[in-house]
Amino acid sequence: MAVDLLLGLQWGDEGKGKIVDVLTKNYDIIARFQGGPNAGHTLEFDGIKHVLHTIPSGIFHEKALNIVGNGVVIDPVIFKKELDNLEKFNIDIKSRLLISRKAHLILPTHRLLDAASETSKGKAKIGSTLKGIGPTYMDKTGRNGMRVGDLELDNWKERYRSLANKHQAMINFYDVDIQYDLNELEEEFCTAVDVLKKLTFIDSEEYIHQAQKEGKTILAEGAQGSLLDIDFGTYPFVTSSNTTAAGACTGLGVAPNKIGEVLGIFKAYTTRVGSGPFPTELFDKTGEDMGRIGNEFGATTGRPRRCGWLDLVALKYAVQVNGVTQLMMMKGDVLSGFKTLKVCTSYKYNGEVINHLPFNIESDNVTPVYTELKGWDKDLTKLTSAEELPEELNNYIDFLEKALEVPIKIVSVGPDRTQTIYR
Ligand code: GDP
Ligand code: IMO
Ligand code: MG
Repeated sequence: MAVDLLLGLQWGDEGKGKIVDVLTKNYDIIARFQGGPNAGHTLEFDGIKHVLHTIPSGIFHEKALNIVGNGVVIDPVIFKKELDNLEKFNIDIKSRLLISRKAHLILPTHRLLDAASETSKGKAKIGSTLKGIGPTYMDKTGRNGMRVGDLELDNWKERYRSLANKHQAMINFYDVDIQYDLNELEEEFCTAVDVLKKLTFIDSEEYIHQAQKEGKTILAEGAQGSLLDIDFGTYPFVTSSNTTAAGACTGLGVAPNKIGEVLGIFKAYTTRVGSGPFPTELFDKTGEDMGRIGNEFGATTGRPRRCGWLDLVALKYAVQVNGVTQLMMMKGDVLSGFKTLKVCTSYKYNGEVINHLPFNIESDNVTPVYTELKGWDKDLTKLTSAEELPEELNNYIDFLEKALEVPIKIVSVGPDRTQTIYR
C-alpha cells in the first residue's frame, strides 16, 4: 500500500491537526515525519480542544497506531507534558504510540542555543519558537546528535554530558545575556527521559515497510508548511527541516514510488507567525478582522499571527513542489461577511509581472497583483453538505481550482471535527 501524505501549503497552522483527526478513521497508521515541538496541531471534538506538539494527531482514535518517525526531533520534556495532558483520556499509549529509535533528541542546551542565536541576531531574528529545533537539526547534519535509540545504551549520560559541554562553550561564544539554571533543566530532562524510556521504541522504517506489505493504510502527517521548508521556503526565515513531500520519504524511510495521494491543506486566506517576507500581508482593519475572527494566535507560542489575502502564486508553487493531488480549504467560515475578497494572482517584480515565486519575495522586490471576487454573507459554521455552500463561495473555490489545477475535496467551516464538508 502506498503512503498518503498530508502537508501544509502555506506558513504553517493551516489546520493539519484537525484534518488528520478527521481522516484517521480511514487509516491504520498515522506517522509524523519531520519537525518537533515547534508544531502546534489543534483538534476539537466533543467540546474539548486538544493541542499536540510531537504526538501525531491520530492519537484519539482507538484503532489507529501513531508513529513518531526518524525525521522528527523530540524534546523529552515537552513530550512528557503532552503525555501528562493525555492521561485523563485513558489512552493506551504504550501500544498506540511508537517512536523511531532514529529520531533525534532536543537537549536543554539546544533550547538555550536557540535563544542565544536569536538574541544575537537582534532585529534580524527568525522569530523561532525557541524550542531548540535549529540547533538540534544542526547537530543531526553535523553528525553530533543524540538519538532516541542512544537512550537504550548504558553510557547515554556520558554522551549527553560531552554534547552539553560543547553546547555551553557555544552559548558562551554568543556573548548574550541568557539566564538559566542548567542543573534544574537537566534534572527535568532526566526525569522526562525516564518517562520516554517506558514507551515503545521501534525501527520505524522497517515497521512501516512491513505494514505496507501487509496492506495497512498509512497517512504521513506533516508539520509546519511548505513556505517554511529549509530548501524551498523563504530562507532564512524558515524552519530546519524539509516540510515538503520529499521530507516524508527521508523522515519515515518510505521510497518515493510508494507515496500515494498528496493532500495539500491551505487556509482560505494566509497567515504567518514569526519574521520573514509575506507579500499579501495586511496592516489594516481587514487584516485585524481576519486575525480576530479566525482567532489567529499561535498554538505553541500564543503569538498573534500576521494575516493577509490568499497568495495563489505561493500556493501554486507549493502545489508543484509537493505534487499535490487533492486540496483542502480551511477556515472559509472566517471570511463570511467580507464584502470583497482579494486573491493575489501574480507579482510585480522588478518592473515585470511574474507568476512564479522568485528568489526574493521581500516587499521591496514584490508587489502583489490582485483579482477581486465577491464575498459571501452566510454563516457557514452550521452547514453539513456541499449543496448548502453559498454561490459566492462556490465561485471562489472554482476560481482556485482552475488556477491550481487540483480539486478542492474538503471545505472546513469551523474548528470542530464535525464542521467538515466533503465535495
Ligand atoms: P496546524 O498547525 O496546521 O494543525 O493548525 P493550528 O492548530 O496551529 O491552527 C489552526 C487553528 O484553526 C486551530 O485553532 C484550529 O482549531 C482552527 N481551525 C481549523 N479549521 C478551522 C476552520 O475551518 N474554521 C475555523 N474557524 N477554525 C479552524
Ligand atoms: P505547525 O506544525 C507556524 C515558524 C516560527 C518561525 C520559523 C522558525 O503548527 O504548522 P523554529 O521554531 O522552527 O526555529 O521557527 O518557523 N514555525 C511555525 N509557524 N506553524 C508551525 O508549525 C511552525 N513551526 C515553526 O514561527 O517563524
Ligand atoms: Mg500549528
